Amino acid sequence: MSIIDLPEWQALLRHCERQKNRRIQDLFTEDPGRGERFVLEDCGLFVDYSKNPVVAETMDLLLALAEARGLRSEIDAMFRGEKINRTENRAVLHVALRNRGSAPVCVDGQDVTPAVKGVLDKMLAFADAVRDGSWRGHRGDRVKHVVNIGIGGSDLGPAMAYEALRPYCRDGLTVHFLSNVDGAHLRETVRGLNPAETLFIVASKTFTTQETMTNAHSARSWLLDALGDEAAVARHFVAVSTNRAGVRDFGVDPANMFEFWDWVGGRFSLTSAIGLSLAIALGPDGFTRMLDGFHEMDRHFHQRPFSQNIPVVLALLGVWHNNFLGAASHAVIPYAQYLHRFAAYLQQADMESNGKRVDRDGRPVAWQTGPIIWGEPGTNGQHAFFQLIHQGSKTIPCDFIGFAKPVEPLGDHHEKLMANFFAQQEALAFGKPEAAVRAEGVDDALAPFKTFPGNRPTTCIMAQKLTPETLGRLVALYEHKIFTQGVIWNIFSFDQWGVELGKALAKKILPELSTLDEPALCHDSSTNAQIRRFRRFRR
Ligand code: F6P
Repeated sequence: MSIIDLPEWQALLRHCERQKNRRIQDLFTEDPGRGERFVLEDCGLFVDYSKNPVVAETMDLLLALAEARGLRSEIDAMFRGEKINRTENRAVLHVALRNRGSAPVCVDGQDVTPAVKGVLDKMLAFADAVRDGSWRGHRGDRVKHVVNIGIGGSDLGPAMAYEALRPYCRDGLTVHFLSNVDGAHLRETVRGLNPAETLFIVASKTFTTQETMTNAHSARSWLLDALGDEAAVARHFVAVSTNRAGVRDFGVDPANMFEFWDWVGGRFSLTSAIGLSLAIALGPDGFTRMLDGFHEMDRHFHQRPFSQNIPVVLALLGVWHNNFLGAASHAVIPYAQYLHRFAAYLQQADMESNGKRVDRDGRPVAWQTGPIIWGEPGTNGQHAFFQLIHQGSKTIPCDFIGFAKPVEPLGDHHEKLMANFFAQQEALAFGKPEAAVRAEGVDDALAPFKTFPGNRPTTCIMAQKLTPETLGRLVALYEHKIFTQGVIWNIFSFDQWGVELGKALAKKILPELSTLDEPALCHDSSTNAQIRRFRRFRR
């Protein structure tokens, strides 16, 4: 049965008809204490979802939908290592990467925990060696710069987490992230770096990704131009991959390859060896603290009843906004400058997972799937796109992420930051009615422009402080939210076939860009004309 024919879905539709004109303000007027009850607290996170247009019945109906969709057994199947990524015939076991318990986790009847532990130990030992100077460059220099070469999941996770946890990273060691095949990215990344002090990590699950391999080869040339000895590659390049043969062919000593497995999806790979650059920056202690945070949220997701389960409740709120109230996008606004790459990271995690148009039986869906995810840190966003969220014609549910204590205390900066954090949520929910604007003496002509309609939903996620543990909990929270929504929408969240067509066409077009023999073109008239114009501009 299609999900929209489920009695639970139909009940939500009827409930929505009754509820949709009730404003957030009305809900607070009718139930002044809701701000104390529509909250969840666990794993050091305080979540207030009372400023969403839901009542107890909404949550009960959403929870019933989750039960009807078999969420409990789907979660169990993931944790048991079943091949729930069916279009690629793979298990989905990022939770095994940070399993701090001793229970075995099996894939194809084999316990993967010894292999996971083996790679983690190797990573942490390597991180220590780089940090304490026992790993040296070809000419005996200590490593001062680490360049992670990767893209998508092999870039965004470690890049986001490195920025998020900078104050916990070691001074004198800088990590750089090189992803774009635009040569400008490489040029700017290595500008000013001393090759003798630079270590490259080529991070690619497949070790075939065009951007990453192109950058890796160019970085190799940059290094060899300076150091002039092929043997230098072994001291300045290590690799993170599932593709042993590819790594060997590139010239990295297999002893310096950090393995992971096909049951780790690229966008869920931060806690695998893909996090090597971060482990070097944070050191074994900091990296392990982050894994502990992930594991805490994994346990919460696996064990807590759905009504108390933070990822499940946030996922269901997203379903309510997306499928019943018609919100097409979802903003994530961290009030923490260190989280400035968080939304970019989540874009891949969420949109590559749930940006799907057919259900698990391959039939086109007749319901909305993944929303557009976007965001920027507060307070910067307030001076850019918040105008549209406050007074625009669209409803954009927002997650506000904030911390009670600053990582870098400085005067009253943090109090000012957090005053904005609370103020924006209040303003979005309750607005400022036209009558209140007029009562301030604003003349009739101007009053509509100065009126804030309110009724804009927000969810507050607050923790004591941004630490490695907190970051782990936050990322795992969103990972499991994405999983839950995929189950509700009956789509496969762990493949990404939609990225393939563009890659194949780019491969075909690349030789056609030649201005020497100008090969014949057989695309549509627009693509042909663009390529011809490109050739002309190049001549
Ligand atoms: O093109 C999308 C993608 O396959 C992502 O899913 C992945 O994270 C990224 O490319 C990088 O892939 P790889 O780690 O194999 O280089």
